[in-house]
Amino acid sequence: MKLLIDDAHIDAIKKIYAAYPVSGVTTNPTILSKVGGNPFDTLRQIRGFIGEEADLHVQAVSRRADDIVAEAKHIVNLLGANTYVKIPAVPEGFRAMKILVDTTEIPFTATAIYTPMQAFIAGQCGASFAAPYVNRIDNMGFDGLRVAMEIQKIFTANHMETEVIAASFKNSQQVLELCKCGVGAATISPELFDMLVKNSAIDSAVDAFIADFESFAGAGNTMLSFR
Ligand code: E4P
Repeated sequence: MKLLIDDAHIDAIKKIYAAYPVSGVTTNPTILSKVGGNPFDTLRQIRGFIGEEADLHVQAVSRRADDIVAEAKHIVNLLGANTYVKIPAVPEGFRAMKILVDTTEIPFTATAIYTPMQAFIAGQCGASFAAPYVNRIDNMGFDGLRVAMEIQKIFTANHMETEVIAASFKNSQQVLELCKCGVGAATISPELFDMLVKNSAIDSAVDAFIADFESFAGAGNTMLSFR
């Protein structure tokens, strides 16, 4: 399962990239609104940092299919290969997806997915990824993990190439459960990245090893202090 950062703040992205195995960055209009300014200034900065090979997901905001297609071309033109245009999985979005598949090679991610049927149709329309919103589905009184797992099963059972990119998480256990099912990707906030392996038992074990070493080697010494 690939891990991506669901954020647009360049400093936060740099910090997470330095510490974790990350395959790219996802954004949405709300995430971009938290940075403000020209969205392409932000997105170009992200692309420049993550490099040409990494995945960058950027959402089109038009409502009509033809306008979504025009936005998709503009986004990929400015941000290059491996840029996935996020398109809401609604009827006008499906129409745009079909036009993109028939007339371009622009890859796209179906977003705003709350039901398995949305993901199935988006997959049939040629989406590279489908993004179920785990936590938002939970907040509606349904089971977000189950929806994401059902989507994974549908793609596998129907031999579809579309991958799940699960989104909207509130805790690391949700990410782990989807990892066990082999979903293609999860996009998570910088805050949640730091929670993935946050555990006081781990910190205590590391502290104890250092204390034991310093008990015979002297405070502040490491293996570098000896030869
Ligand atoms: C991903 O496609 C979504 O834009 C995003 O992850 C939603 O997350 P949120 O529910 O935390 O806003």
